[in-house]
Amino acid sequence: GKGQHRHFMLKEIFEQPEVIGGTLKTMLNPAERTITLPYLPFDLAGIGRVRIIACGTSYYAAMVAKYWIEQLARVPVEVDIASEFRYRSPPLEQGGLAIFISQSGETADTLAALRHCRANGQHCLALVNVPESTIAREADGVLETLAGPEIGVASTKAFTTQLTVLACLAVALGRARGALDRAAEAEVCRALAEVPSRVADVLRDDSAIRAIAPSIAEARDVLYLGRGTGYPIALEGALKLKEVSYIHAEAYAAGELKHGPIALIDDSVPVIVICPSDHLYDKTASNVQEVVARGGRVIFLSDRHGIARLSAKVAATIELPEVASFVAPLLYAIPVQMLAYHVAVAKGTDVDQPRNLAKSVTVE
Ligand code: F6R
Repeated sequence: GKGQHRHFMLKEIFEQPEVIGGTLKTMLNPAERTITLPYLPFDLAGIGRVRIIACGTSYYAAMVAKYWIEQLARVPVEVDIASEFRYRSPPLEQGGLAIFISQSGETADTLAALRHCRANGQHCLALVNVPESTIAREADGVLETLAGPEIGVASTKAFTTQLTVLACLAVALGRARGALDRAAEAEVCRALAEVPSRVADVLRDDSAIRAIAPSIAEARDVLYLGRGTGYPIALEGALKLKEVSYIHAEAYAAGELKHGPIALIDDSVPVIVICPSDHLYDKTASNVQEVVARGGRVIFLSDRHGIARLSAKVAATIELPEVASFVAPLLYAIPVQMLAYHVAVAKGTDVDQPRNLAKSVTVE
């Protein structure tokens, strides 16, 4: 049941410290600060190309993984939406690694993409939340998210546990490829080990998010901006808001703003900005300045330092714990989920069963 929570979505949001921790535990040795993946029927050292294929929220996890794997393992990663990949029939080099991310393990397009890759000489790795699912059964290897059953139609804990496994995979691939030394592995492991408690910190005080939800609930359109791994988190935030509150929301890579989307900015459009203190902070902060200068109502998500350094006059700030930038997407996923949830509650929509949506998309 939902326990003390009003909706499954909220219950599942609050389960994240525990399920991220449980998923990490299967791979991370916190004392040694090393990552060991479960057995895979191929050698990661021989993987020179990675493709990741998924739909919806799972696709956004794939996008985060592209940044992570390219950074830590220095292996080129291509990400694809399953429904595009399967009909494009792209040329595949023998022996590449193809990863299929699916909470349900039953998504029709992702399954079709897996079958195409298997028939074309790829090592196929499934990343699923349901180990007895079709995608898990048909893949060569399986990595499991231990999110537990996800009942709310809008994916929350499945997403952050997917990110958890993908972060570990990036480390393991980096080590196997010789791109990541022991010290660097230890540093990432330390940051990962902290994630469950930092996520719990975010959940402990959601007052800033609750405070802005009623004003967002009145908006017709909402924009989300982010850079680097903050970009897929912006996309995920926009998808969550659309799904549960039916408010039109779009996400853009912050650097794309002046290539078009800035024309949408006026004082009726809330702009949610994902902006942790990292090497991209200044770039995104300058986009915030541009939005504010055009009357945009910015809701700025950052850490204490990032908020203190910001000179633009924003409508609201949401402070997150300071963490290593590698794990920031795991943290910034939480407030965008919470915001979508509280806006939906303010609008009175059916949070757990949004109109027109099914939990598992087994038809194309
Ligand atoms: C969004 C959502 C969907 C799924 C998508 C893929 O909240 O839940 O976008 O992520 O339908 O589903 P799986 O991961 O089961 O393949």
